[in-house]
Amino acid sequence: HTIPWSIAQAEKAGYKHFMLKEIFEQPRSIADTISGNMSWLKGDGKLEGVDPKSFDRIQIIACGTSYHAGLIGKFYIENLTRIQVEVDYASEYRYRNPIVNEKTLVIAITQSGETADTLAAMKLAKEKGAKTLAICNVIGSTITREADTTIYTYAGPEISVASTKAFTTQLTALFILALYLGKERKTLSSEKLEAYFKLLMEVPSKMEEFLNTERKEEIVKKIALEFYKASDALYLGRYVNYPIALEGALKLKEISYIHAEGYPAGEMKHGPIALIDETMPVIVVATKSKVYEKVLSNVEEVKARKGRVVSIVNKGDKAVKQLSEFSIEVPEVNEFLSPIINVVPLQLFAYYIADFLGYDVDQPRNLAKSVTVE
Ligand code: G6P
Repeated sequence: HTIPWSIAQAEKAGYKHFMLKEIFEQPRSIADTISGNMSWLKGDGKLEGVDPKSFDRIQIIACGTSYHAGLIGKFYIENLTRIQVEVDYASEYRYRNPIVNEKTLVIAITQSGETADTLAAMKLAKEKGAKTLAICNVIGSTITREADTTIYTYAGPEISVASTKAFTTQLTALFILALYLGKERKTLSSEKLEAYFKLLMEVPSKMEEFLNTERKEEIVKKIALEFYKASDALYLGRYVNYPIALEGALKLKEISYIHAEGYPAGEMKHGPIALIDETMPVIVVATKSKVYEKVLSNVEEVKARKGRVVSIVNKGDKAVKQLSEFSIEVPEVNEFLSPIINVVPLQLFAYYIADFLGYDVDQPRNLAKSVTVE
């Protein structure tokens, strides 16, 4: 008799695709990233190779999903350390004659450690005297050999071209880095650091709570079934969740080939609002934060133009939910950490749409897992 599965399927541990498996691995990967980096954050250890007081500005360079992590990293570092942070696409940075010198820390974020543009951008910064730090998932990869120091994400191998667990572990690593810099540069008291660290420690179980919600799959699938024939989608978010709108849109584009755009919700009135009609899916990240009321009024603007609102909200939400055709509830966490949770329903939404459309989720057309040519 024959064994009715292949080795590749076995590695998927019962999941239909690697992407789905990797989405579900996220609580574990985040917990591993916290424990893997604890020694230099909390113990006597230091982040070898870069003196935390040797720079007065930071530039983050990355591509694709890693770039979106960088945008959120800017919030973390600026808020917790008050160091000025710029974020650039590596392919732009390397050709724009950036202002960079010995007082600059350049952070390259890359899952693979092999992306050609990211490597070249970091090399350029190094030549100009910058200190360099890589946030990377692959031990021994090229970037880790060239950077002054590396912070590893402990996501484990990511097979799906569309990145999921690498992204949420990059956010985890960036938050830990911001705490460390805040501690070393004395912008963050040890009480505050402890409080933030405790909140970070809660993230894996909060995410688990969402992923284990009984009807979660049913809810996300139902929404995906409603929209898989759409030709466009608009994703909105504000503040620390604006990059999550970009990332949600990127996930949908990558694997379902539906045109999608992520936008800061407050900027919608300057253009994208013209696109809204009764067929347009508008996915809004509207969890609790200091901009919740602002997002609520943006949702009202969408609703007034008959857009079809899908919202990501916290349990117990009423106001946004009332205006939404569909809502997905996620557990509440500190607003800085909310992007790590909020991206998960958007990953699942893109996944189910691509699967309904019958596409090769793990190997989307025209895309490669790591782009080693310019
Ligand atoms: C490719 C992948 C993306 C990834 C990007 C950057 O485009 O398809 O998923 O975000 O490269 O990759 P890196 O390994 O540098 O994070």
